[in-house]
Amino acid sequence: MLERHVTLRSGEKVLIRPLKAADAALYPDFLKDVTPEDLRLRFFAAMRTIAPELIDKLVHYDPSTAMAFIAIEEDSGRMLGVVRLHNDDSGENGEFAILTRSHMKGHGLGWLMMKHMIACAKAAGLKTVRGQVLAENTTMLQMCSELGFHSTDDPNERGVKIVELPLIEVSSEAVS
Ligand SMILES: CC(C)(COP(=O)(O)OP(=O)(O)OC[C@H]1O[C@@H](n2cnc3c(N)ncnc32)[C@H](O)[C@@H]1OP(=O)(O)O)[C@@H](O)C(=O)NCCC(=O)NCCS
Repeated sequence: MLERHVTLRSGEKVLIRPLKAADAALYPDFLKDVTPEDLRLRFFAAMRTIAPELIDKLVHYDPSTAMAFIAIEEDSGRMLGVVRLHNDDSGENGEFAILTRSHMKGHGLGWLMMKHMIACAKAAGLKTVRGQVLAENTTMLQMCSELGFHSTDDPNERGVKIVELPLIEVSSEAVS
């Protein structure tokens, strides 16, 4: 359940599995292929790369309150993307964030990683999955809409949308 073998539209075979601390070693090569613009869409701040301290923090999440999955290209062992979900204080809702290699956009990887994360969140008994998305990030908003997320303006941050998916509305088949 926590691992899934998938094939992208472009033919690459990919393993999606839980992120582990040792995966910090895969980040530098991954980040070489992530543009500053994509980092801004992910972190909402201008940055040219991710500092080693932040990588360390990202790979050392608490599995009792968060889940994170890495996509690995099976032929090369390269990291292609990462999706994470952190529970709120109630433990009933998770907040996601996702990032893929910039040159892999449009291959269907983000979609498959989101579906995997949603399936795991549902299996873990969470009620909702939500995320903050910049209003200009039309690809992400379109993808979330197709995945069944509802979108509203973030009342606290201008130019930011909140996308929310009640997991009761998600059938197991839809994310299998
Ligand atoms: C946003 C992001 C995760 C999308 O990943 P991606 O791999 O490019 O997305 P995909 O190729 O899976 O999906 C994109 C497209 O296919 C659609 N799609 C993909 N697979 C599909 C499927 N099986 N069925 C239906 N629609 C599908 C999506 O709606 C979208 O449509 P478009 O290409 O016509 O615009 C990626 O571009 C990224 O990392 N961006 C920078 C960081 C970011 O924006 N993060 C989001 C905020 S946390």
